[in-house]
Amino acid sequence: MTTLPKQTLRVGFVGTGFIAHFHLKSLIGVRNVEVTGVYSRNPENRARFVSEVEALDLGECRAHESLESLLSAGDVDAVWILSPNYTRLDVMRTLHREIKAGRGKIFAVACEKPLARTVAEAREMLHLAEDAGLNHGYLENQVFCTPVLRGKEIIWRRAASTTGRPYLARAAEEHAGPHEPWFWQGDKQGGGVLSDMMCHSVEVARHLLTAPGAPRNSLKVKSVNGTVANLKWTRAGYADELRRRFGEDVDYRRRPSEDFARATAALEDEEGNELMIEATTSWAYVGAGLRIQLELLGPEYALEYNSLGTGLKIFLSRAVQGTEGEDLVEKQNAEQGLMPVLEDEAGVYGYTDENRHMVECFRKGIKPLETFEDGLAVVEILMGLYRSAEIGATLHFPAPELEDYVPVVARTGA
Ligand SMILES: NC(=O)c1ccc[n+]([C@@H]2O[C@H](COP(=O)([O-])OP(=O)(O)OC[C@H]3O[C@@H](n4cnc5c(N)ncnc54)[C@H](OP(=O)(O)O)[C@@H]3O)[C@@H](O)[C@H]2O)c1
Repeated sequence: MTTLPKQTLRVGFVGTGFIAHFHLKSLIGVRNVEVTGVYSRNPENRARFVSEVEALDLGECRAHESLESLLSAGDVDAVWILSPNYTRLDVMRTLHREIKAGRGKIFAVACEKPLARTVAEAREMLHLAEDAGLNHGYLENQVFCTPVLRGKEIIWRRAASTTGRPYLARAAEEHAGPHEPWFWQGDKQGGGVLSDMMCHSVEVARHLLTAPGAPRNSLKVKSVNGTVANLKWTRAGYADELRRRFGEDVDYRRRPSEDFARATAALEDEEGNELMIEATTSWAYVGAGLRIQLELLGPEYALEYNSLGTGLKIFLSRAVQGTEGEDLVEKQNAEQGLMPVLEDEAGVYGYTDENRHMVECFRKGIKPLETFEDGLAVVEILMGLYRSAEIGATLHFPAPELEDYVPVVARTGA
């Protein structure tokens, strides 16, 4: 048994891809943490990750050739699950088995969004974590975005306290499409953009509407209404482009997932006040790069945020030539003209504060702000939205039919 608080939390990473690098970069802004292990199936990725940890001075990191080896290592206290959605449950089952067999020292687990592809999977993730006695954190970075932290604090302290609680949260996240083939495959990812990105929007909106300090379940979801559409990537030229980039398993002429989704969710607070979330997400937005837009409205006030409305902008004339990159903003679409630049993406997008929060909660044995219970609640809303879109009607909660529901685009053979 590990005695808490622990002075330093020793973290192991499962996954060395896009998001693992964001997390790694953000950890230089977090105290009391070391990265002591990584599992990847690929020797080059393992070696590259270990040298990055060394370069960032984040501890002595050992590369593990098997998941079991990482999870049973004596020098790892907590694991960050950063592998694709279709691998989640296997990783969690292995972790559960290792702990039950008395191997290793892991006492906490954090998992990237979405917690799972279906309600049944999310419920099992939660059960496995609790049954193994693990402290668990759900990695929803938008809840920790610096504008969300600051904006929510001001709205609730200054405006809601004197004129009444906020009633409407709007959230949008859009970009030009994901970077790896598995995101585009409904069965692997769990759906299309609704599953991939609306998980952010519904949770950040729920968070903004929740009174500071109140549990997230102080708001009850009453009903949801969703629409999905294929706006761009099913057009013949774009479907062919996807196939060229990602191979024949990504076939948007025959097996597309949605690239647009819209949602409304009606909620109720403990006093019976009606609240509303409006969310929209797409993989069909070609602007400078990833755009997050947030609003929180109340009786006498409004908050608004647009991640591309940056203070720092750089103009590059047509004479400036260079390779394509994501060095100005995530999912960047251009290298010329007037470009917005996020000077600290890991901070603004919330990864630094998210990891600081998780590390401090795990080190001290405190329940984090976002747990697997929240991850499950998000998946319930997402499945409700898919079901609503499928039947073309509003879905009222509780909705027992969601327990074994699989979105149309995620059904094998769909
Ligand atoms: N918070 C956010 O805004 C955000 C943004 C992007 C992604 N994400 C989430 O983060 C997760 C990973 O996304 P990503 O963009 O990093 O994907 P990615 O770039 O495809 O990287 C996935 C990583 O997982 C590893 N992996 C693949 N299969 C595995 C398996 N069976 N067991 C263990 N590891 C395996 C791969 O490593 P090897 O090939 O080296 O084994 C790869 O490094 C997803 O759940 C995604 O939804 C969140």
